[in-house]
Amino acid sequence: MSPTSFDRRRLLQWAAATAFGTGAPLFVRAARAADIDRFPLGIASGSPRADSVVLWTRLIGADLPARVPVQWELARDEAFTQVVARGTETAEAAWGHSVHAQPRELAPSRSYFYRFTALGARSATGRTRTAPPAGASESLAFAIASCQRWDHGHFAAWRHLADESPDLVVFLGDYIYEYGPVAGRVRVHEGSGDATTLAQYRARYAQYKGDADLQRIHAVAPWIVTWDDHEVANDYANDQGQDLAPNFLERRAAAYQAWWEHMPLPLSARPVRANAQVFDRYDWGALARFHVLDDRQYRDHQACPKPGRGGSSTIDLAACPELMKPGRTLLGAAQERWLGEGLAQTDARWNLLAQQTLMAPFTWTKEGRFWTDGWAGYPVARERLLDTLAERRAANPVVLSGDVHCNYIADLKRRPGDAAPLATEFCGTSITSHGMAQDRLDAALPLNPHIRYARSEERGYMSFRLDPQRLEAALRVVSDANDPNASIRTAARYGVEAGRAGAQVG
Ligand SMILES: [Fe+2]
Repeated sequence: MSPTSFDRRRLLQWAAATAFGTGAPLFVRAARAADIDRFPLGIASGSPRADSVVLWTRLIGADLPARVPVQWELARDEAFTQVVARGTETAEAAWGHSVHAQPRELAPSRSYFYRFTALGARSATGRTRTAPPAGASESLAFAIASCQRWDHGHFAAWRHLADESPDLVVFLGDYIYEYGPVAGRVRVHEGSGDATTLAQYRARYAQYKGDADLQRIHAVAPWIVTWDDHEVANDYANDQGQDLAPNFLERRAAAYQAWWEHMPLPLSARPVRANAQVFDRYDWGALARFHVLDDRQYRDHQACPKPGRGGSSTIDLAACPELMKPGRTLLGAAQERWLGEGLAQTDARWNLLAQQTLMAPFTWTKEGRFWTDGWAGYPVARERLLDTLAERRAANPVVLSGDVHCNYIADLKRRPGDAAPLATEFCGTSITSHGMAQDRLDAALPLNPHIRYARSEERGYMSFRLDPQRLEAALRVVSDANDPNASIRTAARYGVEAGRAGAQVG
């Protein structure tokens, strides 16, 4: 032990004993403040525009005042010698001491570095970037990821993605899982029972965000985020949980608030009670428009649930006429309209739909047997969406999906019998969450010939390179999600040529 650290420790012991009354000398209070890590959940950035980006952190500490000023800085260089913007946000206890700073009037297509200071402590430094300006067609490296169930594995996949240094991460839902602890798992959820209250959801995010690999990927690139069911509760639909609990909207309000508190989203996206506008569009110059969808908040309840339950089931079409009822919706009328407008109003070369779950039809039997929580449970709504893509003549539509813990690549046809696909779907597997057995999936694949690739036992993410001529996908798969030091490999490569929907191998 060096004399310096010994002295420092003695000083801190003494300072702790004196409880830091207002009479404590200034240097003691400063020493104490700097000694406490106020940023154990790391930092993040997201919602990138050509002229702005959101910078996120959340202060932690039992002794935090109700309102804490937090300084942020944004610089061109990692040493912060060229600071281009700085400001102060107030972290409020009512919003979990979260910070959502949004520097504006930034230059497009630029990398920036950012950090926070509060109560004498400084955060780690993150790197972010702004989107290209309107009209620019520079290429984009991005990844899609979803479903990072804590007790199903370690986050080695995130470390490998961070090493790839993408321009952008698109997260498609299930950032947390609400489930209580299960003994004997590779990692265990903290707390007791499922998260249902604001305090419990906050604690769950804090546990996940304590992970070093997750912090690393947040620190290298901005994220665009949407959510799925587990940010609230398994298989919830609109105002209903699968357990049909009467106070579900209170739970939804708590979960929505905690989600916003932990995501790099602007203040304008802050939920009002049980309502949050998550659907949004992001333009990447003239290259791409991301249409980010929310398929949870406005959907019709799942058709033909199990007796006395809400949520999903797997049902035979013949036994569930409700499935085909006209007007059934997954996105809600307002979001469907908004999507149609967003597709019609853009000259973007590629239209990327960032959404939760497998859109391609998937049947388990020749006669039609469907899982009702995904698009398969809302076939009429899927038809309407595909019609919209066709009628609005959306340029190069590509659907990006998650949720089902499988890597799927599919040709999306406007109608099942059509010769040519209308769009291409890349449904990425989970970071950790378990998938079904491969042999079960293999048995159903001959019934679903438009599905070009289907692997349920792969964990990881999909990396994309996009330019005006071509989209290239690499399916990145970890050696073992239970191993924090897992290696990574590319399990498959697929491409889509501009002007020609459908995935090509290689
Ligand atoms: Fe999931």
